[in-house]
This record gives sequence, C-alpha cells and structure tokens, in this order.
Amino acid sequence: MSTVRGEFSSRFGFIMAAAGSAVGLGNIWGFPTQTASNGGAAFVLVYLVLAFCLAYPALMAELVIGRHGQANAVSSLQKLSGNAFNKRFAFGVGFGGIICAGLILSFYAIVAGWMFSATLEPIAKLTSLSDTAQWLNSQSLARDLIFTALFVVLTISIISKGVENGIEKWSKRLMPALLGILFLLIAYVLMQEGASEGLKAYLVPDFSSILNPELLVSALGQAFFSLSLGTSVMIIYGSYISRQENLVSLGAYVTLIDVFIAFVAGLLIIPAMYVAQAQGVEIFGPSGQLLSEDTLVFQVLPALFESMGEVGLFVGFAFFALMSIAALTSSISMLEAPVSYAVERFALSRLQATWVIGGLISLVSFTIIFNFSSLFGFVVSLTTQFGQPLIGMFCCIFVGWIWHRNGLLTEIKSGYPDAEHSVFWKIWPWYIKFVCPLAIALVFIHTL
Ligand code: PHE
Repeated sequence: MSTVRGEFSSRFGFIMAAAGSAVGLGNIWGFPTQTASNGGAAFVLVYLVLAFCLAYPALMAELVIGRHGQANAVSSLQKLSGNAFNKRFAFGVGFGGIICAGLILSFYAIVAGWMFSATLEPIAKLTSLSDTAQWLNSQSLARDLIFTALFVVLTISIISKGVENGIEKWSKRLMPALLGILFLLIAYVLMQEGASEGLKAYLVPDFSSILNPELLVSALGQAFFSLSLGTSVMIIYGSYISRQENLVSLGAYVTLIDVFIAFVAGLLIIPAMYVAQAQGVEIFGPSGQLLSEDTLVFQVLPALFESMGEVGLFVGFAFFALMSIAALTSSISMLEAPVSYAVERFALSRLQATWVIGGLISLVSFTIIFNFSSLFGFVVSLTTQFGQPLIGMFCCIFVGWIWHRNGLLTEIKSGYPDAEHSVFWKIWPWYIKFVCPLAIALVFIHTL
C-alpha cells in the first residue's frame, strides 16, 4: 500500500475537479439532445427535479463513503462492512464501479476524439490545408484510432501527475476556460435570426408530457450520467477531500454547477438548431421529431457554422474546443478510478499504473472502433443504463442500511459541526435509505 495519499489543496480545487468530472459531453451534448428529443421544456423541468431530489442525495452517499474511507472505492466500501458477506458485496460494488468507469472512458475517448478532430478542422481550413480538413471531417478508421489514442494519452499525462498537480491544476484551468467559451457562443447565437423560437421551445414546457415514463427514465439516466454517479469516481474524489471541509455544501455546489452548465448548454444548442433552420438547414426528421444525437452535433451545427462564412470557422473552432475541454475534465476522473485502485492495491507507482491502465483502456477503445456497429451502442447501454444506476443504488444501500447511523453522522459532522440539527440530516438519511434505492430500482426495472 502506498502511504502518502493525494488531497485537494483547496475547496475551490475540489469544486473545479468534481464539477469538471460532472460537466462533460453529457451536459453539453447529452442534455440538450435529450431535451430536444423528449419534448423540450418538460424534460428540463423533470430533469431539474430529479437532479436535486435523487441525484444529489446519491452523490452525497458516494462522497461520504470516500471521505470516510480515505482510500480507493473498494477499500472505502470494505471499511464500512463488518462481516465477510458485506465485504464481498463491497468488493463487487467497488470493483464494478471501477470497471464501469474504465468502460465509459473507452467509448467516451472515441467521441472525444471526434471532438478533437472537429476542433482541428477549422484550423486546417483557415490555413488552406483542404485535404487535411477533408480527412479530419470524414469518418475513417485511421482518424478514429489516431484521435482516440491522442485523447487517452492526454488523459494519461494529466493523471500521472497526481491529484494536486494533475487533476486539480488542470481542472482549475480548463473549467473557467469552458465557461468563457460557452458564454461567448451563447451571446453570439442568441443574436442570430431564429434564436427566439428556439428559446421558446426550450423554456416553455408542454405539461402533458411530464409524467411520460420514457421521459422519466431518460431524465434519471441523464442525471446519473451527468453527476458521474455509479462509477466510483465520486468515491475517489470524496477520498481526496480534507476532513475540515463541509461535504454537504461541497456536494451541493457540484450539483448546482453541473445542472447550471447543462441548462446553459441548452441555451446554446437548442436556439442554435432553430438558427440553423432559419438558414435553411433541416432540423426536423421525417416524423416531425427534432433531429438529435450525432446528427445534431456533427451535421446541424457544422451546417450552421458553414452558413456563417469566415466567422463560422472561428465559431466552429470555439464550439468543438469547448466540447473537447469538457470531455477532458471528465475523462481524467474516469481514469483516476482504476488508477487509484491499482496504486493502493498493488503498490504500483502512479506513473506505471496510469500507463498500464491507460493502455488497457485504449485496447478496449480500439476493439470498439474496429467493431463499431456491434459494440459501441452495447457498451454505452451496458454502462449507462445498467452499470451506473445499479452501482449508484448499491452505494445508497451501503450508506442507508449497512453503515451505522452514528458513524455516518460523525463523518458528516467533520467539517460541519452543526450537521445534526440541519434540514439535511433530517431528510437525507431517510431518503438514502428508502427513496433513492426504490426510485432507482423502479426506473431500472422499467428500463429492463
Ligand atoms: N459526467 C460526465 C459527463 O456528463 C460523464 C462521466 C460519467 C464522468 C461517469 C465520469 C464518470 O459527460
């Protein structure tokens, strides 16, 4: 076991790192496209309720497990388990989370690679390298392999530097940059013709679709993915928080920032779709549904950028740079989950562990790229529809049923001495015990 563990050096550093993990393609791509395909503002409303009422309590469960354990996810969960059966259960949940994080990284890196190549394409065009631009823009095995590898190497190079000099330092740089680019783009798009119609679709809910079960399932899945739950990532990040910090407010900040950025990303993407429509780009599919997913990001928006002429190259560059940064601050957290386990369990050096695990994850990514049509969707649903909700639910069960209530209170009270008399303590333990596991199980069963 290595004895010296990293720790976030400041409150701000933790918030940027955890919000960096949470804010990713899920916010800037997933949330707006889900909103577009699930009836606009109704989805936004349901998402907000679920994020605060279900995802935030589950996030708190993971953070508190990590801070109490001061170790990787497996050891932290095992520390809560008194008997052999619970210890085995703890191993399954912790290790399952680590595998889930690694698998998510293996498909996330492919998508992030697309974002990278789309960021470079406008630069190639500006410098009149039209063949290169054409290559960057067309799907090919070589392009996907190269950019996925590039993205994994970048992630490895940050994680190999450790908590303070790697994760924290880079999150503190990249997150403000992300916000800056996001707001500049919104200001630009909202000034274009057609934007107000998009705003209306985004902000005025059609209440009739709010209780649609499909919509509930999508919104809960989206909230879990967005807060990086059920992957042991938040257990690890929790283990790097000092005992002097108030966990309850830290978790709340992370949730608020995550939800805020998803909401703000919607203010960019949905109006941009309508601006694109005003410029003649098709945004509705044959059945009258809004186009979504990859069509939106890789066809509708580029068509919009194209129609802007020379400015479009800069806007396109800024947009895909934004996507790439968001992906990077998330991918570093995914790699940290297995790396912290390997370092603490097998006494590997951080550098060794990072390269070995990064290499393994690249191999999985390459396998997915070579068998894209059969594997990509499979790995996405395996991890996000099954792995994350199940593991998230088990973490709630650990905190609600296995951990002794007094022990839990002591952990929450460190950094928050008045916790016992707070509204949080009146509601949350009960919530984590009954409401969260039940709600997640219901949604899970519905997915099946
Ligand atoms: N939360 C990230 C996003 O929204 C994705 C993620 C999932 C990160 C699981 C870490 C673990 O894009």
